[in-house]
Amino acid sequence: MKLMVTGGAGFIGSEFVRQGVEKGHNIVVVDKLSYAGDLKRLAAVQDKIRHYNVDIADIDRLKEVFLKEKPEAVINFAAETHVDRSIINPHDFIQANIIGTFNLLELSKNYKIERFVHISTDEVYGALGENGNFTEDSCINPNSPYSASKASCDLLARSYFKTYKYPVIIVRPSNNYGPWQYPEKLIPVVIIKALLDEPIPVYGTGKNVREWLYVEDCNEAIFVALMKGQPGEVYNIGSGFEKQNIDVVKTILAILGKSEELIQFVEDRPGHDFRYSLNTDKIRQELGWSAKTDFDTGLQKTVNWYSTNKDWLFEKLDLLKNYWGSIYKL
Ligand SMILES: NC(=O)c1ccc[n+]([C@@H]2O[C@H](COP(=O)([O-])OP(=O)(O)OC[C@H]3O[C@@H](n4cnc5c(N)ncnc54)[C@H](O)[C@@H]3O)[C@@H](O)[C@H]2O)c1
Repeated sequence: MKLMVTGGAGFIGSEFVRQGVEKGHNIVVVDKLSYAGDLKRLAAVQDKIRHYNVDIADIDRLKEVFLKEKPEAVINFAAETHVDRSIINPHDFIQANIIGTFNLLELSKNYKIERFVHISTDEVYGALGENGNFTEDSCINPNSPYSASKASCDLLARSYFKTYKYPVIIVRPSNNYGPWQYPEKLIPVVIIKALLDEPIPVYGTGKNVREWLYVEDCNEAIFVALMKGQPGEVYNIGSGFEKQNIDVVKTILAILGKSEELIQFVEDRPGHDFRYSLNTDKIRQELGWSAKTDFDTGLQKTVNWYSTNKDWLFEKLDLLKNYWGSIYKL
C-alpha cells in the first residue's frame, strides 16, 4: 500500500516507517524536521522511502505532495509533542497540530484518500485519580495546551467522518518509550542525566502515574488499526503497565548502576495530570491486538539502546542544556 506518513522522522513515526518498509509498503514521509525530527532515525530504510521536507501547516506545499504521490492512506503522526514546550509557546502547537491536521483532512477528503489514521493521545481525556480508566467513550477533558490541541484534532477528525463520511480512524496511545526518543521526555532525560552523573529532575513528588507502552507495540497496533479498524471509530492503545514516575527513575538508575542521590525533586509542572490509564478492551476484542512487551523488558532494551547509541544522544546535548536550564531551574 502507498502510505503517506507525516511526522515519519520523529520518535514513533520513524518506527512505523521502519515496520512499514519491512512489511513491503511504499512509504512517503512528510516531515518538516523540527528540532524533534531527525532523518538519522530512518537511515536503515533511507533507500526505500521518499522524504518531503514540508510543514503540514503549509497547505500549498502539502497539496503538491498529495498530487505527486497520490497516497492510498495517510497516517498522521506530525505534531508538536512536548507538554512543557506547549506551556511556554502554545502558538506552535495550534499551528502544527490543529491547522496541520485540518489541512491533511481537507486534502485527504478532497483527493478521496482511502484511509486516514490520526494519531491522538491518552492525554485528551484529562487526568484520573488513583482508580479507574478511560474508555473510548470517556469525555474529552484536556488540561494542557498540548492536549487541548490534540483534542481539537480529534474533534475535527470526527466531524469529517460525521459530516463528509470521510473514513477517519483515531487512535489514542498511552506514553511511548523505546529507542530514538528525543531526550526531553522522561525516560531518555533520566538516561542521559544518569550517564552524565548529573542531577535528575523529577517533577513534584514523583508520584504521577503513566501507562508505558513500548514503541514497537504501539506501531503494531497502529498497523492493525490501519488495516482492520472501522472508519469513524476511536481505539485506545495501552499496555496496562502503570508506573509512578519515581519508580521509573529508580529502575533506570538500578539498570545503569547509578546512585539514587542523583534524583532532584523540582517544582511541579503547572496543570500536571496525576494519572492516565486506558481501557483497551475495544482494540483487543474487535481488532485482536494486545501489547507484547512487558515494562521491565522494554526498559532494559531501551537503556541498552541509549547506552550503545551515546553519539546520537549526546549530539542533542547543547540544545538540551539551554532547554533544561529554562525548564527545570537546576
Ligand atoms: N510520545 C508519546 O508518548 C506519545 C503518546 C501518545 C501520542 N503521541 C502522538 O504521537 C505522535 C508522534 O509523537 P512522537 O513522540 O513521535 O513525536 P516527536 O516529537 O518525536 O516527532 C514529531 C515529528 O513531527 C514532525 N513535525 C512537527 N511539526 C510538524 C509540521 N508542522 N509539519 C511536518 N512535520 C512536523 C517533527 O519534525 C518530528 O519528526 C504525535 O502526534 C503525538 O501527539 C505521542
